Amino acid sequence: MERTFVMLKPDAVQRNLIGEIISRLERKGLKLVAAKMMIINKEVAEKHYGEHIGKPFYDDLVAFITSGPVMAMVWEGIDAVKVIRKMMGNTDPLEAAPGTIRGDYALFTGNNVVHGSDSPESARREISLFFSEKELITYRKDLDTWVNG
Ligand code: RTP
Ligand code: MG
Repeated sequence: MERTFVMLKPDAVQRNLIGEIISRLERKGLKLVAAKMMIINKEVAEKHYGEHIGKPFYDDLVAFITSGPVMAMVWEGIDAVKVIRKMMGNTDPLEAAPGTIRGDYALFTGNNVVHGSDSPESARREISLFFSEKELITYRKDLDTWVNG
């Protein structure tokens, strides 16, 4: 089963959207396998968003993501990476379709509420940056046969 890394950004925490976003992912059929509230330091932020070093928005991005608590999570399910990227919507909330998380809850790219890994390789890298192996909970739900086939 595929796993992906999801982070509710500081704006989601400040705007009381944690429950709403987790609820959407749960109702889709995805399974939460790890979660923690944390304040990211600059070193971790720079590792997490290393692909964007040198881009014009990079400094603002690191300042924003370290500005307050985030909710770091690992979610599991069939094609979890792609499914969650679809549910998040376009990076620019103006382009994100209504019904997506960014389309429903964000107004501009800088504060777009949620992060999700963009590929299975990114997911593996990001999960190991934020969680140890023993923090990832493997468990069964009786619903699994209904949602995962
Ligand atoms: P994320 O990594 O946060 O899930 O977002 P993403 O894949 O949809 O977008 P990405 O290209 O990875 O960009 C990372 C974050 O940088 C900020 N950004 N600002 N002003 C801009 O043009 C711009 N482009 C990107 C956004 O906060 C984006 O989520
Ligand atoms: Mg990205």
